[in-house]
Amino acid sequence: MADLAKHSARLVSELVGSGDLTPEWRAAFEKVARHWFIPDTVWVQDGGPLVPVDRGDDEAAWMELCYRNDFVVTQVDDGVPALPGRVGHEITSSASRPDVVAQMLAALHVEPGMSVLEIGTGTGWNAALLAERLGPDRVTSVEVDPKVADYARHALREAGYKVNVVPGDGALGHPPDAPFDRVIATAAAARVPYAWAEQTRPGGQVLTPWATDFHNGALVSFAVSGDGSMRGRIVGNVSFMRLRAQRGKRASLDDDMRGTAGARQAFTRLHPYQVLGEYDASLAIGLKVPRCKPVVTHHDGGAYTVWLIDPWSGSWAAVDHEPGAERFPVRQSGDRGLWDEVEAAFHWWDALDRPAADRWGLTVRPEGQHIWLDAEEHRIRR
Ligand SMILES: C[S@@+](CC[C@H](N)C(=O)[O-])C[C@H]1O[C@@H](n2cnc3c(N)ncnc32)[C@H](O)[C@@H]1O
Repeated sequence: MADLAKHSARLVSELVGSGDLTPEWRAAFEKVARHWFIPDTVWVQDGGPLVPVDRGDDEAAWMELCYRNDFVVTQVDDGVPALPGRVGHEITSSASRPDVVAQMLAALHVEPGMSVLEIGTGTGWNAALLAERLGPDRVTSVEVDPKVADYARHALREAGYKVNVVPGDGALGHPPDAPFDRVIATAAAARVPYAWAEQTRPGGQVLTPWATDFHNGALVSFAVSGDGSMRGRIVGNVSFMRLRAQRGKRASLDDDMRGTAGARQAFTRLHPYQVLGEYDASLAIGLKVPRCKPVVTHHDGGAYTVWLIDPWSGSWAAVDHEPGAERFPVRQSGDRGLWDEVEAAFHWWDALDRPAADRWGLTVRPEGQHIWLDAEEHRIRR
């Protein structure tokens, strides 16, 4: 017990110190123990593939994982772990990083008594934090995986929180409990569902991680208007798993991609770090280049290869980086020239004067979403 108090106090003080945990959320973080919501079996990565860690085998190690400022993997492969193989396990549910949870709750601007719809119940920890602050019957949380939903419902009940946990597709919201003052998604949308706008009171807010195939890291805060639309701005840098129906295909490296046979070869002077490692550039490239997933493989001596893969068409590109090099060999295969597309998108962003992430905006209407720069009239076309 003393150990638990120590773990929890250390996490809270770390989050206060980093500025992520705001004064209005502090009491909730102190009260709602994270380990109440973490299943006995979690998955950890220690250099190799994800492996399960069981509470029964090493309670201290498990508790340490519960109170680290890191996400905890609680489900892989939709609950049916694939046999060990080349592609590895896919993370399909987790307890989000405490600092990200704190940042998102602060960005949600809630007051006690407001009603909130959460998408992606996961462990139930975030729902419990919301319920602690907002009160009983104020939080509805939708979870696509029925087993995960059952686990969270049980954990929330045990902890004494009255949250309506609904199994189902959160992209549809939950009309019976609407309208909500706030919607918070803890899974990333590539196409932000209009249902979230529809089920939020005018003047309310929708907060969601937003992702492209190329880039997975923006938090968007939407203001819901009474005119059947919502407009949002990028307010943070977060990375979440996708909404299940929007996951698309996994990018994997096939053996026949390793060689040069059949691939078109060239050189580029654009450093691969500039397109992938620089947040603002990579975000903008994702707006322009659809169905292009990056994978990086590391080699000895600091060398690495950036792979660009379109798992739908089978096109791929590879750019090899050697430390100190000024030009980089490019191989491209398939109908698309994926590196050419990425390089063109980089130059498009450069010619716009390299806008930072917070200059992009999104509007969501019943017919879909569109992206703009600075003002809604400056719409971005792919
Ligand atoms: C990062 S976890 C959520 C973390 C959670 N809020 C917590 O406090 O532990 C993302 C969750 O979203 C769920 N999810 C994915 N797609 C969904 C969808 N369409 N509707 C509802 N939940 C979804 C996943 O099954 C997963 O449990």
